[in-house]
Amino acid sequence: MKKIVINGGNRLHGSVCISGAKNAAVAIIPAIILSDGVCRIENIPNIMDVNLLVNILHQMGAAVRRIDKSTLEIDPRRINSSFANYDAIRKMRASCYLLGALLGKFSEAEVALPGGCDFGVRPIDQHLKGFSVLGAENSVSGGMIKLKSNGLKGGHVYLDVVSVGATINTMLAAVKAEGKTIIENAAREPHVVDLANFLNSMGADVRGAGTDVIKINGVKHLNGTTYTIIPDQIEAGTYMAAAAATQGDVTLKNVITKHLESITAKLREMGVQVEEYDDCIRVCSEGRLHRCNVKTMPHPGFPTDMQPQIAVLLSVADGTSIVTEGVWDNRFKYIDELKRMGADVSVDGKVAVIQGVDTLKGAPVKATDLRAGAAMIVAGLSAQGTTYIEDTDHIERGYEDVVEKFASLGADIRVVYTDDTVVQRA
Ligand code: EPZ
Repeated sequence: MKKIVINGGNRLHGSVCISGAKNAAVAIIPAIILSDGVCRIENIPNIMDVNLLVNILHQMGAAVRRIDKSTLEIDPRRINSSFANYDAIRKMRASCYLLGALLGKFSEAEVALPGGCDFGVRPIDQHLKGFSVLGAENSVSGGMIKLKSNGLKGGHVYLDVVSVGATINTMLAAVKAEGKTIIENAAREPHVVDLANFLNSMGADVRGAGTDVIKINGVKHLNGTTYTIIPDQIEAGTYMAAAAATQGDVTLKNVITKHLESITAKLREMGVQVEEYDDCIRVCSEGRLHRCNVKTMPHPGFPTDMQPQIAVLLSVADGTSIVTEGVWDNRFKYIDELKRMGADVSVDGKVAVIQGVDTLKGAPVKATDLRAGAAMIVAGLSAQGTTYIEDTDHIERGYEDVVEKFASLGADIRVVYTDDTVVQRA
C-alpha cells in the first residue's frame, strides 16, 4: 500500500507554483462536449479527477492530444452518443457535469450516478430542478440517471440552496437551449465564473457569473477555443496553511489574490503575515498562532474546502476556536485522525470546538477524503516526529505533484509502500 511519510518540524521556505483549478477544470472538460470545434485548454492540472474525465471524453469518441504537461487539445466532434456508463464516473462527483453537457448537446442524456467525497448525503435534486425547468424529465434506474426532452427551452430557475454543481449543470444545459435562462440564487465561486468565461470564449452568451443571478441567452453553435484555466484557490490555500503551520516563509506564484481573500483574512486574524502582489502571495509566520472562529459558507465566504486545513492550524493555536461547517452535513470525519496526532477537538454535529495544544505528534493516519488528506499533510509537516498517511489516492485526486512541491519547500516528505521500500523521494 502506498503511503505518504512526513518527518515533521521543517520550516517551509521558498516558492511554489500553483496549478490550474481542479473544480474549474472538471466543469470545463465536460463543457467541451458542447463545442463544434477543437478546444485547447491551458493550465490544466495533472491530477486524477481531471485525467479520469479526459479519459471518459476519449472513450466517448473525443480526440485528445496532450501538448505538454498542462495543455490539452480536445476535439469533441466525434462524440455522437448521449450515453455514458464508465467505471470512472462512479469515482467522482464532477462526472455529474456530463449530464448537463450531454443534455445541452443532444437534448437527452443517460449517465451513471456520480461518486465523490463522502460528506454525508449529496443530493442532486437542484440539478434535476434546473434540467426540468429547461424541459427535461428525469428518471433513475439501474444506477443510471436518464434525462429526456423534446428540445430544451430557456426558463427561470430558482435554486433552493446555493449549489455549485446545480449552477454549473444548469449553465451547461442552458447555453444551447432556445431562448433565455435565468438562474437565481446561483453559486458565485471562481470556478463558476471560469466556466462562464470558457463558454463565452466559445461564443456563448452567459452574463452575471460571479453574482447570484446568471442570465444565459441560448446560442445555436459553439466554436472551438483556446482557454487558460484559473489557478486553484484551494491548492493555494493549502500551501498558505502549510506555511503558517510550519512557521515558514513561502511565496505562492500563479495565484489570483482576490480569490484568496477569505483565507488571507483568517490567516491574518491568526497572526500570520500575508503580503499580496499581482499574481503571487507571500505567507510568513513566526511564533504561536492566535485562536479564531471560522464558519464555512458559499463564496465569497470562507470555503468549506479549506475547513480541514484551517482546523489543523487552530489545533495548535493559542486558546479555544470554534469551527462551524455551513455547507456540508458531515465534514468532520477527519477529526478522529487529527486526534490521533494529539489534537484536542470535540465535534457536535456541524460544530467543532478546538482547544489548541502545544504541538501535534506524528502518527499513522488516513486521508478520509481529498481535503482531509491535505489537512493530514499540513498536520504532519507541523508535527513532532513521523506521520504516515494512508489512502493517498484521495489526495492525488486534487493536488498536482504534492510530494514534490512540498519537498521543494524543504519538507521531509516522501512516498513509500507498506513494505517501506522508498519509491519516490522528491
Ligand atoms: C462543489 O461540490 C465542489 N466540487 C466541492 O469541492 C465543494 O465542497 C462544494 O462545491 C461546495 O463549495 C466540485 O466543484 C467538483 P454543492 P458540489 O452542490 O457542487 C446541497 C473539493 O474538495 N445540495 O455546492 O457537489 C449539498 O448537499 C470538493 O474540491 C442540495 O441540497 O457542492 C450541500 O449541502 C469536494 N441539492 C450544498 O448544497 C443539490 O442538488 C452545496 O453543495 C445539490 C447540492
